[in-house]
Amino acid sequence: MSWWQDTVCYELYPRAFADSDGDGTGDLAGATARLGHIAELGADAVWITPFYPSPLADGGYDIADHTGVAPDLGTPEDFDRLTSRAHELGLKLIVDLVPNHTSDRHPWFREALAAGPGSAERARYLFRAGRGPSGQLPPNDWQSAFGGPAWTRVADGEWYCHLHAPEQPDLNWRSPEVRSGFADVLRYWLDRGVDGFRVDVAHALFKAEGLPDAGPGQHRDPLRNHLMPYYDQEELHPLYREWRTLLDTHPAPPGAVPPRDRVMVAEAAVFDPARLARYIRPDEMHQAFNFAFLEARWDAKELRDVIDASLPSPGGGAVTWLLSSHDAVRPVTRLGSAARARAAALLMLALPGAAYLYQGEELGLPQAAVPDDRLRDPLWERSGHTERGRDGSRVPLPWSGDSAPYGFTTGAPDSTWLPQPDGWARYTVAAQEHDPASTLNLYRAALRLRREHPAPDPTAAPHWYSAPGDPYLAFRRAGLTCVVNLGPAPLAWAELGVTGRPVLASGALEGEAVPGDTAVWVV
Ligand code: NOJ
Repeated sequence: MSWWQDTVCYELYPRAFADSDGDGTGDLAGATARLGHIAELGADAVWITPFYPSPLADGGYDIADHTGVAPDLGTPEDFDRLTSRAHELGLKLIVDLVPNHTSDRHPWFREALAAGPGSAERARYLFRAGRGPSGQLPPNDWQSAFGGPAWTRVADGEWYCHLHAPEQPDLNWRSPEVRSGFADVLRYWLDRGVDGFRVDVAHALFKAEGLPDAGPGQHRDPLRNHLMPYYDQEELHPLYREWRTLLDTHPAPPGAVPPRDRVMVAEAAVFDPARLARYIRPDEMHQAFNFAFLEARWDAKELRDVIDASLPSPGGGAVTWLLSSHDAVRPVTRLGSAARARAAALLMLALPGAAYLYQGEELGLPQAAVPDDRLRDPLWERSGHTERGRDGSRVPLPWSGDSAPYGFTTGAPDSTWLPQPDGWARYTVAAQEHDPASTLNLYRAALRLRREHPAPDPTAAPHWYSAPGDPYLAFRRAGLTCVVNLGPAPLAWAELGVTGRPVLASGALEGEAVPGDTAVWVV
């Protein structure tokens, strides 16, 4: 089995993880100093989200230099120290690759604006003439995922495409220069010792020839994503095969995993399991995020359907599970209670396959309320102030202390990248450390037990005790059985045909019964 097939990978959002220099923004040195927290938790790998130079129009996913380090986060040497420390602690390190778009401050886009229509510089992006008698209308009806048209007009009258914010112009992936430029980016980070890449909007790089209209209802029903002319195009796959060959053959520096063990994980918002399976064929990416699991409601049937669609893995590729990310509402809030989030964690961590945790999930953080004047997410402006966006899950972590900044920075509480709420003292790592009932200790115990009971085949379905229509989930992973009671009434687990003794529970057990919104592991 390869390490990535059942890895537990911790997502680290650097500006909100730990600050080392007192400016209120988390940085690479802060992350290095706190990596021990991730190792102690029992994760196997870290995925660090963009730390590259960026004007921050989209939290760092608008990159001005794909091989640089943002000055407020540190230097290339700080990145090397982070990598070495991760490897010393036995953690793999995965970085973000953002190939669909650049920042509008990227030298390529500046050159494109300066060079004008018809130039080779513009051919790296998707510039088009507008429709209407004077080209005053966008070239087609495409909508940005952040709201509003996916086109912005420049001074000379041409329009450029951006599936996200206007500050994130989409690249033209049919340009040989773009293709070779990104192969260099991959080589650059491999040479610096990374163990893999998380590929941003991996379903969007190629747009259908002729850029046809997409029709009404765009971005409203994710189940239709694969039908959009800007998503899930066939030409993606030869590109990912090229990258896979590069990963499998490029020499590895000391400390990094050898070629063939480095990974690519697709952030592809494709919900049709058969379409998603195509990204993780044996010669393409290694993993794809299973967003259907993250999006499922606290409902036994809904969760069972997602698990059954994912296992056995349709294309035989690796399966992943995740409950949170820097883009999602934190599970405590999304699922409706801390009890449910804790039970969901035990469900996720018992399933065969890999799991992704997002920083703060292990502390049971709820979604934070961020005041209007501190919101940074472009969704807020682009939606005309109807969608608050994702900042509530990007608030700096509470490490210690009774009040903000909770050990996150030595700077002033109001200096932090996003404001931390009052009342987070009980969520700090220090407060949870010695409390056996804390969420932090639940995650630590779960990761330890999970390691002791590896699933023999992470692509195979577990043995089910519950039937698809049951209001609870019960299944076996190797020697460990997981029972999740999603309903309100207690469930006598012995009556389910499950034998053994409980070794971990997300809440207090009532005799031989599992209370509502509770999960238990039995060996
Ligand atoms: C997905 C990233 O996770 C998200 O934060 C970002 O806004 C979009 N891709 C665009 O890069």
